[in-house]
Amino acid sequence: GPMHVSRKHDSAHKHVTGTAEYIDDIPEPVGTLHGGLGLADRAHAKILSIDLDAVRAAPGVVWVMTADDIPGANDVASTGKHDEPLLATDLVQFHGQPIFAVFAETRDLARRAAKLAKIQYSDLPHWTDIDGARENGAPLVTEPMTLRRGEPETEIEKPPLRIQASMNIGGQEHFYLESHIAFAIPGEDEDVTVWSSTQHPSEVQHMVAHVLGISNHAVEVKTRRMGGGFGGKETQSNQFAALAAVAAKKLKRAVKFRPDRDEDMVVTGKRHDFRVDYDVAFDEKGKIHAVDATYAARCGYSADLSGPVTDRALFHADSSYFYPHVRLTSQPLKTHTVSNTAFRGFGGPQGLLGGERIIEEIAYAVGKDPLEIRKLNFYGQRGSGRTVTPYHQDIHDNVIARIVDELVASSDYKKRRKAILKFNETSPVIRKGIALTPVKFGISFTLTAYNQAGALVHVYSDGSIHLNHGGTEMGQGLYTKVAQVVADCFQVDIDRVKITATTTGKVPNTSATAASSGSDLNGMAAYDACRQIKERLIEFAARQWQVNRDRIEFLPNRVKIGNEIVPFDTFIKAAYFDRVQLSAAGFYKTPKIHWDRAAGRGHPFYYFAYGAAVSEVSIDTLTGEYIVERTDILHDVGKSLNPALDIGQIEGAFVQGMGWLTTEELWWDTKGRLRTHAPSTYKIPLASDRPKIFNVKLAEWSENAEPTIGRSKAVGEPPFMLAISVLEAISMAVASVADYAVCPRLDAPATPERVLMAVERLKAL
Ligand code: MTE
Ligand code: MOS
Repeated sequence: GPMHVSRKHDSAHKHVTGTAEYIDDIPEPVGTLHGGLGLADRAHAKILSIDLDAVRAAPGVVWVMTADDIPGANDVASTGKHDEPLLATDLVQFHGQPIFAVFAETRDLARRAAKLAKIQYSDLPHWTDIDGARENGAPLVTEPMTLRRGEPETEIEKPPLRIQASMNIGGQEHFYLESHIAFAIPGEDEDVTVWSSTQHPSEVQHMVAHVLGISNHAVEVKTRRMGGGFGGKETQSNQFAALAAVAAKKLKRAVKFRPDRDEDMVVTGKRHDFRVDYDVAFDEKGKIHAVDATYAARCGYSADLSGPVTDRALFHADSSYFYPHVRLTSQPLKTHTVSNTAFRGFGGPQGLLGGERIIEEIAYAVGKDPLEIRKLNFYGQRGSGRTVTPYHQDIHDNVIARIVDELVASSDYKKRRKAILKFNETSPVIRKGIALTPVKFGISFTLTAYNQAGALVHVYSDGSIHLNHGGTEMGQGLYTKVAQVVADCFQVDIDRVKITATTTGKVPNTSATAASSGSDLNGMAAYDACRQIKERLIEFAARQWQVNRDRIEFLPNRVKIGNEIVPFDTFIKAAYFDRVQLSAAGFYKTPKIHWDRAAGRGHPFYYFAYGAAVSEVSIDTLTGEYIVERTDILHDVGKSLNPALDIGQIEGAFVQGMGWLTTEELWWDTKGRLRTHAPSTYKIPLASDRPKIFNVKLAEWSENAEPTIGRSKAVGEPPFMLAISVLEAISMAVASVADYAVCPRLDAPATPERVLMAVERLKAL
């Protein structure tokens, strides 16, 4: 059938021929205006006065908007904490915070005009990073969390070996190819339609209504596709949509808001930087007895998604390992920087990386291959007494040991590691490293309410099918996967299924397409809609043809009714004339999950996705430059809905993860200005940076133990963390200059400069 087979992304040919319609491609109505932002140039200051006369007088300017012009709430905080104004009024909290917006005949005129503002400030003390936050006793932007099991406080004293150290983990810019954009068209009365590049059309709808002071029903938000989101369009789209909508209603003209790349990078949140302070106690063999760790995060000036992001970091601080006694605490610190947000893995990567650093520390301390330490500490099978996580969820779908064993064999890990150790003995400048790292990633939103989805399916009288659901397409292939589900239900060719833009008018109250759960949730909701229509069709056929229900079968593009075979479209036409309802709304909510945050206990994840990667690198010890020579991946997507799309997700996530851990570095200067706000200074991976040999395989034997759609598993985020193998392979190459006697404690990103500094530091030992 159409499910579980490789099919190209429904828009692949349009992406590569430039015919896929993005919001900036939609023909503009006559009189469309363009927005520009007026940004603060202080990190933390009181605003004393705002003089916008010159801005208003500039050529092409139609309107200049400040917070006073907002008809409803000056608030775009997705959390309900009211800590994120759409436009700053008397207080600036980060360098680049929007203070006003200009609407002009062209984008260029709007931008030029915005520069003419005269704003007077009185500076307040500011800090931009975790050190600064701690030194200044910074407040937390949201409630911290603690996960605790066993007796960590006393048990950590008992084992013979103990290490206390820290790791710094950098943030990351999303660098979606299509920057943020919103296009608002005013309607009659209070109505407004907004095209928004967003992962969360429902939230944009609610936020636009909130800012305009009108009901949700007056706002329709549409999203056909994003040119990438990666978490950066989960909440950050709100501000652009709200600005465009307010101006559109005020001016009764179409309004487009599209920041350029530099502005987009300055005014939208990124992945959180973390500092992990860890304390681990273990025996001579390297078996962990107790872990106590604090995960501090640079959250920026407001909460945004920092609560769930820092929570997810703690949920993944165990990586794939059983900690007999454990205490994990989050510290979501306020800084005078843009408010950080979701980014692929949602804190999970930072959590997992801390756990993997602990393994590395132990391996160097006991003088063993880190892989041995990993295997020694893996969660066990049912009955082993080693299956309970720090959040008290029992793991019973664990396949990590099998994945790692298969990958060790298929990648020839053992032989290659020996050869590398040998090579390093005699190579004066170039050194090599190899590392195998595992991934275990929990699937579900930790906010239980988000784990719901809706879909709307129409079968038209010619047998063609219209599909709509609450998920958004950002390149990941969700629309294709859900269309496969629908085609499979009716046993029709996929071309019969028309995929339509996500809109709040067709499916209401949807969740963000995030937490990798898009196909799990929307696939099931679409399935539910199809099931209802099919049920009516079967009832109709049984009645009309006078046969038993069990003699009705949907065959490819045909229906077998008793001994008769009827083409699908003929059958549908007959059903229409018999007045069968050929449309249905479907719904799904994830079963089994629950979470008590205050107690730190529950079953927050429906299931786990697993994977492992082996990476081999070589570094130049004179310059710090490196090459990823080869990566082998074995990843678990359950029973894949579409192997080609899944492999694409794994490759893309891995390379994006590599960028995070190697070349991508965000840099704020002492004034709090982001200095890496364009590709000239911020280095995402190039095609030439990908592993020279790149073998990606799916664990074909895997099936989700839970009844997900087609027994598949989520794939969007988990493989991002496979890139930790690259960082650790670099770390091994660095360690070789000191005979592997010490853990290099390489921070992320391991830029060539940082690698060189680590080499020099170790050589001096
Ligand atoms: N793949 C592409 N091409 N573009 C994206 O923006 N976002 C990632 C992942 N894969 C993304 C992507 C993130 S952060 C998530 S949460 C998932 O896709 C969301 O989609 P899904 O739930 O349908 O997997
Ligand atoms: Mo993905 S960070 O959950 O949008």
